[in-house]
Amino acid sequence: MHAEARDLIAAMPLPAVLIRWDERIDAANAEAVALLGEGLVERHFITVLRQPVLLDAIEGTMRDGAPRKTRYLTSDGRQDTTFDVSCRAVALSKGPGVLLTFADVTQMEQAGQMRRDFVANVSHELRTPLTALLGFIETLRGPAREDAAARERFLEIMGNEAGRMERLVGDLLSLSRLEAEERVRPTHPVDLPDLLSSVLSSLAPVAAEAGVTLIPELPETPLEIAGDPDQLRQVFVNLVENAVKYSGKGAQVTLRLSGPAYHPRLRADGVEVEVIDTGPGFDPLHIPRLTERFYRVDSHRSREMGGTGLGLAIVKHIVNRHRGRLRIESTPGKGSTFKVILPLRAGPPRGEEA
Ligand SMILES: Nc1ncnc2c1ncn2[C@@H]1O[C@H](COP(=O)(O)OP(=O)(O)OP(=O)(O)O)[C@@H](O)[C@H]1O
Ligand SMILES: [Mg+2]
Repeated sequence: MHAEARDLIAAMPLPAVLIRWDERIDAANAEAVALLGEGLVERHFITVLRQPVLLDAIEGTMRDGAPRKTRYLTSDGRQDTTFDVSCRAVALSKGPGVLLTFADVTQMEQAGQMRRDFVANVSHELRTPLTALLGFIETLRGPAREDAAARERFLEIMGNEAGRMERLVGDLLSLSRLEAEERVRPTHPVDLPDLLSSVLSSLAPVAAEAGVTLIPELPETPLEIAGDPDQLRQVFVNLVENAVKYSGKGAQVTLRLSGPAYHPRLRADGVEVEVIDTGPGFDPLHIPRLTERFYRVDSHRSREMGGTGLGLAIVKHIVNRHRGRLRIESTPGKGSTFKVILPLRAGPPRGEEA
């Protein structure tokens, strides 16, 4: 019986520890040794599992035989790991024992934390314009009631704030749609030079107003890739709009399409679209976080310009859906380059064909 119990513990895929009636560790599998260290067997469990909530749970199960669940936290100095620990009574030949199993729930915890952060961020982003709207409604009802000029001014601000909320909700909806279909690879034929030049013409008025020159560097001939035309449009509108918005008067924004060529990163033929600006750029330390939802380099300035901080998160999702890559480079004082690499065809990458 005893050897059998040890074999069973050894075969469990999760860290497992069996504690005997005399409160010593009877058996522990390799996963438990990796988690708790060598030399577990025959030690008193208190000297191995030093966390009070876990010790209480073990003692409770020893006493009344009822199963218990609790938490165990470890850290390797860089990363914290959270385990759900289950304590179950087992009848051993000479008395009762307790079987502990440890399930790593770190990722679930992190997903939960991300969801909470996201909801908090969305609420905050919506509350700011909403507070402004409520404030102006109060003013229009009271002090500014008879002041036609003030009324016009306030209505314009209110229109802007409401527009901001509308954009935010629209962006959130497109993100959640994108997440739902991220695994479905789009396969429509898209003529990129045509799409890119139409992006430039639709943003020409915005650029003119900002005093920014748009420079197309696109091939004259059609170049088709497999993709989703509306989403690709959204990507390049976002990138060119950012370049125009954040570069400011006198800057140049180049939209360059090159390829097709073999791309080692894609392990397939691909094309490159670069959006290059001569704007102020930013410290490259922001790059890893730039595609996070609501992340902004200069949040005050970006918000002032009506940005929701979701643009690059959407870009990243769309590029992923196309199995492409997004590369960002920036030099403060010189400008930034946002490069999108897209596979030419929707088939499996070269070398993986059946
Ligand atoms: N070309 C650029 N030059 C300088 N900063 C940039 C550039 N592109 C993006 N950024 C910075 O990255 C941040 C995130 O961009 P993103 O497009 O995600 O959000 P946004 O422009 O603030 O809002 P939205 O695109 O939703 O209107 C911006 O707030 C800005 O600080
Ligand atoms: Mg943007």
